Amino acid sequence: MPDVARLVREYRRSAIRVLFDEASRTEGTLRLEVGEPSFVTPQHIIEQAFQAARQGHTGYGPNGGLLSLRALLSEKLSQVNGLTAGVDEIVVCPGGMNALYNSFAVLIEPGDEVLLPTPGFPNMDEMVRLLGGVPRFFRLRPDNGFLPDFDELGSLISGKTKVMFSNSPSNPTGRVFPEAVVRAIVEFADRHDLWLISDEVYDQLVLDPSAVHVPAARFDTAGRVISIFSFSKVYAMTGWRVGYAVARGDIPQLMRSTQEPQVSCPSTISQKAAEAALTGPRQPIEAMREAYVERATLAVKTAEAAGLRAYEPQGTIYMLLDVSDYGSDGGLDFALELLRAQQVSIAPGSVFGPGGAGTVRVSLAASEATIENGIKRIAVHLQQGRR
Ligand SMILES: Cc1ncc(COP(=O)(O)O)c(C=O)c1O
Repeated sequence: MPDVARLVREYRRSAIRVLFDEASRTEGTLRLEVGEPSFVTPQHIIEQAFQAARQGHTGYGPNGGLLSLRALLSEKLSQVNGLTAGVDEIVVCPGGMNALYNSFAVLIEPGDEVLLPTPGFPNMDEMVRLLGGVPRFFRLRPDNGFLPDFDELGSLISGKTKVMFSNSPSNPTGRVFPEAVVRAIVEFADRHDLWLISDEVYDQLVLDPSAVHVPAARFDTAGRVISIFSFSKVYAMTGWRVGYAVARGDIPQLMRSTQEPQVSCPSTISQKAAEAALTGPRQPIEAMREAYVERATLAVKTAEAAGLRAYEPQGTIYMLLDVSDYGSDGGLDFALELLRAQQVSIAPGSVFGPGGAGTVRVSLAASEATIENGIKRIAVHLQQGRR
């Protein structure tokens, strides 16, 4: 039998999934590893999906998404993000993940280098490798407020660097990049003639009232920014699989074309549900954001009281804990040992690239009781000298 594709053979499964599977086997485990909102999709969105199905919205749609949804997204981008985007500049995809894959697929050729943040969203390096690209990590250091260091970024540029990936509000650090940093990232991409994929799937999950999410595309004069958004976390719609990319020039058309052999089109029923998310009441959406704010406050307070160093998130639904004070690397072995000893499941820092060492990520998507007890148990585990 011939071998399967080399790049697929070499693909490494996310350690978060390993934890997920292990944790699912033990009843009563405190689940802090995944970014699955603890909320069900708001009822008015579910209702519209039922109605849409009954009305016959059950067939294929256009590759890049329903025109009716893209018209509403154009309004949302203007009102929420301050971006001007016509309906042809918006490509709806089955989730932000597919919008990211589709963007990379359009941009990179084998051997092209991609600048990726670490600690950063773990799926990106494997996605880049799967497409034959080469990840080059830049650090987001806690002593630099988890912001990029432009000297380091400059030192990573080679003749093969083609794309930079940026993510704010950032998973897993919770940092929301200030306007000056977002502007500097776009200028850096300009200076080195790079594409910039700006992952903004947490655009409406800013938790810190003093932080403001600033979209990179606001500073894009050359049409080099592809912005990625999603309905998953903001509207508690992870399972509906609706995300979208916003881009200029011929990129949206190329993304629409490459969607055909990948997925044909996003789910029509899910897109009608997404329309309800955009047109329906804001109150249930805002209530979820407020719950994350409360959980973040509780998580920080619990960690500090238990003697753990926590990085207070400004946005997203995650919080990083520093476990290096206890001599732990926060790696997969530590996470599995913690799970066995304390029945708490966390995302090991090692999944966030080399910059994740010495940290673990807890999800604020769990209930308050789970967050509080889970963090206390992590502290007990570390204080027992288990690393
Ligand atoms: C930074 C970031 N980008 C993209 C995604 C993909 O989300 P989805 O495919 O559900 O839209 C996630 C999910 O956790 C994420 O954290």
